[in-house]
Amino acid sequence: MLKINKTILIFFGPPGSGKGTQAEMISKKFKLPTISTGELLRQEIKDRTKTGKEVEKIISKGKYAPERIIKEIILKRIKNKDVKAGYILDGYPRNKKQLNYLIKNLKQGEVNVLAILVDVSDKEVRSRLGGRRVCGCGATYHIKFNPPKKKGICDLCDSKLYIRDDDKPSVIASRLKIYHKEVAPILDYWNKNDKLIKINGEQSIEKVQKDIIKELKKHKI
Ligand code: AP5
Ligand code: MG
Repeated sequence: MLKINKTILIFFGPPGSGKGTQAEMISKKFKLPTISTGELLRQEIKDRTKTGKEVEKIISKGKYAPERIIKEIILKRIKNKDVKAGYILDGYPRNKKQLNYLIKNLKQGEVNVLAILVDVSDKEVRSRLGGRRVCGCGATYHIKFNPPKKKGICDLCDSKLYIRDDDKPSVIASRLKIYHKEVAPILDYWNKNDKLIKINGEQSIEKVQKDIIKELKKHKI
């Protein structure tokens, strides 16, 4: 069962919208850990675990990982003591089943929850993901909009950057299709409950960040 207290921020947005980039920045500023199901799954793949081997092909095709695995990795991560004051979710919940599970568990603790949608068009998504470069340590760059200091090398750990398997054009199309089908009903839920902040994601990384912080302050976070 999820143990929940205080602040929970949930980042939504299509693949490549910048939700991971923004979640990391907010995490540092508000001292809340980020729980990214995508990152957790990629770590399992990198570590060649049983889970990693099971999800590798699925993720590279842009499909969702099995519910059983998502529940497992979320529960494992949430047990960590660093989530005491709250946390940031990036990439979860992603369908109605996951939303219902989260809601069921949210009721059991005192919690201030807000959903943040980083809104960008499909056209912008394609342009961004084509230039994304990532590091095994979790850092994300863009060759034009957020380049590393040394070309192809991570600023944080000096490792070689690479292109994610699911950033191929055909896979991006499939991820976008699933996003629009599965995530829209979840956004409706937060919107109806007055818990949805919509941010224009088609601005510079810094401006998007400023807009998010402004909204969080309005909501006393
Ligand atoms: P996940 O890792 O969550 O991928 P995603 O949702 O497709 O989102 P991305 O990480 O691709 O994009 P982002 O919005 O974080 O953008 P970023 O900040 O990197 O999930 C991966 C896969 O895991 C899923 O497809 C699925 O298979 C599986 N999975 C995960 N969660 C699951 C779940 N709950 N259930 C089932 N399966 C699950 O930015 C993108 C690029 O743009 C970067 O290069 C960045 O530098 C650049 N950028 C960022 N902001 C700006 C800006 N404002 N202007 C210009 N460039 C920008
Ligand atoms: Mg991400």
